[in-house]
Amino acid sequence: MKAAVLDDVGVPPRYGDFAEPEPGEGQVVVDVAAAGVNQLDLAKASGSFYTGPPPVPSVAGSDGVGRTAHGRRVYFDAPVAPFGSWAQRTLVPETDLLDVAAGVDDATAAALGNTGLAAWLALSWRARLQPGESVLVLGATGAVGSVAVQAAKALGASHVIAAARDPERLKVARQHGADATVVLAPGADLPAAFRQAAGEHGIDVIIDPLWGEPGLAAMQAASRGARLVQIGASADPTIDLPATLVRSAELEILGFVVFRVPLQARRDAYRSLTERAARGEIAVDVIRLPLADVASAWEQEQHGARAKLVLAP
Ligand SMILES: NC(=O)c1ccc[n+]([C@@H]2O[C@H](COP(=O)([O-])OP(=O)(O)OC[C@H]3O[C@@H](n4cnc5c(N)ncnc54)[C@H](OP(=O)(O)O)[C@@H]3O)[C@@H](O)[C@H]2O)c1
Repeated sequence: MKAAVLDDVGVPPRYGDFAEPEPGEGQVVVDVAAAGVNQLDLAKASGSFYTGPPPVPSVAGSDGVGRTAHGRRVYFDAPVAPFGSWAQRTLVPETDLLDVAAGVDDATAAALGNTGLAAWLALSWRARLQPGESVLVLGATGAVGSVAVQAAKALGASHVIAAARDPERLKVARQHGADATVVLAPGADLPAAFRQAAGEHGIDVIIDPLWGEPGLAAMQAASRGARLVQIGASADPTIDLPATLVRSAELEILGFVVFRVPLQARRDAYRSLTERAARGEIAVDVIRLPLADVASAWEQEQHGARAKLVLAP
């Protein structure tokens, strides 16, 4: 079969041939229709992800949407090594399959996988967002951030602030329901800008895929008892965090990774996300590429793609 093959750790995958998966006990072969291209996939392939380097040779990619031999349409995010999602077929434990709602196309369903689950579960499962609370979404122009803005509204947030560097792309966050926007401009007084955008609502929950200066500024502007869900570090892997800030605002800093969330919570979240996408309530901007263009997908994801990349085998 055709696949994006990792020949060595730290080397981008190449489009080529790989052995067909043979199912063992409790495993199923999934015919892949669309696979997500995630920051996670690049980190895993380069050996920098904290779960350790991938086996080689192996197939890149961690999640996607496809069909089993019985015609069931499924989302999967736990392929059995050395198989991955960037291939015509993959191998998955049957117990780990998630159902996809009817009426949503394969590429959108794949785009809502790791990305959509991160946004939805960070708010609902990790922060336990309550209706009427206010939410600040950092990196709101990114794949996770743009779903997080819509998810916050769908989960009943009273006030959603979208923050990112690009003022043009922030206009889309407004269209997705953001009540206020903040441009992360160099030299700007970000805590003041966040406070102004929050107004009387304050900031109860921060969705943080950035860390670095914007993450610190968000904590400085947060309401007492606010929860920051730490998702990623696109701005900076470290910050200088004063203890007095954490104590005085009684901040809760909550680490979050999708794959550690219990399966049933992921199942429920994914069904909810894909049902809402089918009804047009949650939109995701997708760039579809054929699997043969994996080198281009890799390059775009590495340099900040302008929409969610999905490979179609
Ligand atoms: N914990 C989990 O389970 C989980 C799941 C999914 C993703 N993640 C992580 O979440 C992060 C975002 O993922 P994504 O898929 O949304 O990525 P993405 O689509 O590439 O978006 C990245 C966002 O970060 C912004 N950004 C990049 N560099 C920045 C900087 N130096 N300062 C300020 N903003 C910056 C981008 O803004 P511009 O448009 O201005 O470049 C964009 O809004 C990644 O670190 C990813 O690994 C974690």
